Amino acid sequence: MQLPANEIFDNPDCIKCARCVEPRIIMNDILQELKSIVGERASASPSERCCYASDASQIAGLPDFVVRPMNTKEVSLILRLCHDQIIPITARGAGTGLAGGCSPVKGGIVLDMSGMNRILEIDIENQLVIVEPGVVAEKLNSALKPHGLFFPPDPGSMAMCTIGGMISYNSSGMRSVKYGTVRNYVLDLEVVLADGQVIHTGRKVLKSSAGYDLTRLFVGSEGTLGIITRAGLKIAPLPKTRKLVLAFFDEAETAGQAVIRVFSRGITPSACEILDKTTLQVLKLCDPMLAIAEEGDLILFEVDGTEGSTNEAAIQIFETCQPLARSVRIVTGQQMQDIWAARRLVGAAISRLDPKKTRIYMGEDVGVPIKKIPALIKKVQQIAAKIDIPAMKYGHIGDGNLHVALFIDVMDDEQWNKLFLAADKIHRAALELGGTVSSEHGIGLARAEYLPEQMGLEAFSVMQSIKNALDPQGILNPGKMGL
Ligand code: LAC
Ligand code: ZN
Repeated sequence: MQLPANEIFDNPDCIKCARCVEPRIIMNDILQELKSIVGERASASPSERCCYASDASQIAGLPDFVVRPMNTKEVSLILRLCHDQIIPITARGAGTGLAGGCSPVKGGIVLDMSGMNRILEIDIENQLVIVEPGVVAEKLNSALKPHGLFFPPDPGSMAMCTIGGMISYNSSGMRSVKYGTVRNYVLDLEVVLADGQVIHTGRKVLKSSAGYDLTRLFVGSEGTLGIITRAGLKIAPLPKTRKLVLAFFDEAETAGQAVIRVFSRGITPSACEILDKTTLQVLKLCDPMLAIAEEGDLILFEVDGTEGSTNEAAIQIFETCQPLARSVRIVTGQQMQDIWAARRLVGAAISRLDPKKTRIYMGEDVGVPIKKIPALIKKVQQIAAKIDIPAMKYGHIGDGNLHVALFIDVMDDEQWNKLFLAADKIHRAALELGGTVSSEHGIGLARAEYLPEQMGLEAFSVMQSIKNALDPQGILNPGKMGL
């Protein structure tokens, strides 16, 4: 879905709010009110509003105001104002999302949470941290490293994305195959509700069996139920050793079979990534010095732990893959780090293959049960061949999560049509295989139409009831998740 920003601004399909009555006068009043809360950190300048129109997807909508709060009190006062005046409000971290999740498609306020970026506490004894939502994930890990600890969820955008964004989309990346998703690490959230009330969803304990699990409700809720202002997160000891098994295959489908065999043997890699033939070419373009001479469809199996346990697991993976693979080898140290660094860039670097084409994030985050991985890979290949659109495949295949990268000449309408068709078919294929339209990038606006089908209408209506109970005026990130 491509939504040019000015189209949305000229036709603000907004919920009927006070500002529609006397737009200019009321807009100015609102700006003054916002300034009384945050001073010059509130703005209605056209250039600033443009900067906050979208995330890393194509989905955009111009906000009326940009506000940069620095503490919970300010967020609470801003929400109270939004509640009283019925103003849409969309929270935003680093804007690295890929589903239009923080694009303010109904106008109103964009709340830039990146200024609330303090690590408030590193509690070694209790193995937890307390952070504000604007903390960049990599900064948290840099602060934890000297203590021999880490926060395991590891999205490709680790160097830029914020903890608040990761929690809001349950964005987990490379290591969830062993360590679990963000959801498994959140112990407590401080959340400002739609009317400005501040609540805590949990306690800073590793186990609790008391009441509804509000923490899990807010994880992955994409800013539609409240604004996260603080998080208590579980952390883990850094593994002593890591090793990487590279297994090259003739066909991506066979690579998928190898993944099933590894898991069937009871081996749990700490990361399990697929990079198809095209992605491997891009990987080499990302880092021309990369020491990978081989070609083919590649699976990266990372194992971590002690020296002994990683050796044993790496050899087991090597032996499991060998009968199916063209070649297999084990790398460590700097070479391993260089491969991971290049892997993080492949999604964006795809345009290096053809500078006239741009990667469009659609149909890019499907997930299926592990056993269905080869079927998904085959289906995606068939869809791309039939529609005649290039489709690079990579992603966290150990979670059943495939990132399909469709890339087109954006000036060519016919290619856009092919893209929409391919993305739709990929989403439907994942659903037919018992999977999900999003494993980690979220629903946002990009995939909203599929959510009722994936969840079932009854479950979706429970979700709608929860939304109505917590945000009866529909001011929190309106237009998202089909709510
Ligand atoms: C990645 C992002 C696209 O895995 O999720 O690189
Ligand atoms: Zn990913």
